[in-house]
Amino acid sequence: PLYSTTPMLQKAKADKHGIVAFNVHSFDSIFWVLEAAAEISSPVILQTTVGTVKQLGAQNIVRTAAAASDYYNTPTGLHLDHCTDYEVIKQAVRAGYTSVMMDASMHPFEENVSRTREVVDLAESLDVNIEAELGKVSGVEDEIVVSESDAQKAVPAECREFVEKTGVPTLAPAIGTAHGIYKGEPNIDFDRIEDISNIVNVPLVLHGGSALPDDVVKRCVALGMAKVNVSTELKNAYSEAIRKHFVENPDSLDPRRYLQKAKDAAKEMVKTKIIMVGSQDKV
Ligand code: 13P
Ligand code: ZN
Ligand code: NA
Repeated sequence: PLYSTTPMLQKAKADKHGIVAFNVHSFDSIFWVLEAAAEISSPVILQTTVGTVKQLGAQNIVRTAAAASDYYNTPTGLHLDHCTDYEVIKQAVRAGYTSVMMDASMHPFEENVSRTREVVDLAESLDVNIEAELGKVSGVEDEIVVSESDAQKAVPAECREFVEKTGVPTLAPAIGTAHGIYKGEPNIDFDRIEDISNIVNVPLVLHGGSALPDDVVKRCVALGMAKVNVSTELKNAYSEAIRKHFVENPDSLDPRRYLQKAKDAAKEMVKTKIIMVGSQDKV
């Protein structure tokens, strides 16, 4: 079955390790992530953007993720990433997603509070985690585009007020990471993470996990960022493997051949990230 990610993340935070939330973009990749996690006995979160829900269907994703988590006997959460639309969140929860992100970070503080509050109320009697964002993470994540000049870091006092007013069980504060691969060195504000962690009790979420140096992620996790989102590096790893296959074997059209290579590349990336956050052997 699929579990709410709230207890998983609280336990990880208390234990000072992280849980990786991998964005998946196809049914195959759901199996790849879970097989890799199972092989090193790690809990894991699968997440999809709204674009992927539109492409694959919420019910199909839920059923596939549940089947794969049972088959690999691995604690799994299924999260809807960066959703701006209450109706889509409602559909995902009804379909069986066990965690949802209401991303109202583009709105003024009070509106972010009320939009998040609405989702917290929706999920009140359900075993579903909610995530919200404060500040603005730069870069491109599916349909959400934030330029570097529009990026904004979360303000610690606002984080506390936000959690108090919304009752949200997980918070993603912008602290200097970006979606995608960094052009220069990322400038991570560790002092800010520490300040937020000191006054906010809920597990924090690190967005933009791709291409961050291992020691940076480890420091973030140690400071309470229990959920680490990884999208770009995983999809790039297996897409590159498929590209390489066709460059080297332009006439080889057996899907099992190129999908096997994609799977191998994906699994290696998944294990690398899980080991980085320290959740192996935590099942
Ligand atoms: P990356 O693409 O940098 O891994 O960011 C992932 C993310 O934050 C998904 O919400
Ligand atoms: Zn993100
Ligand atoms: Na990134």
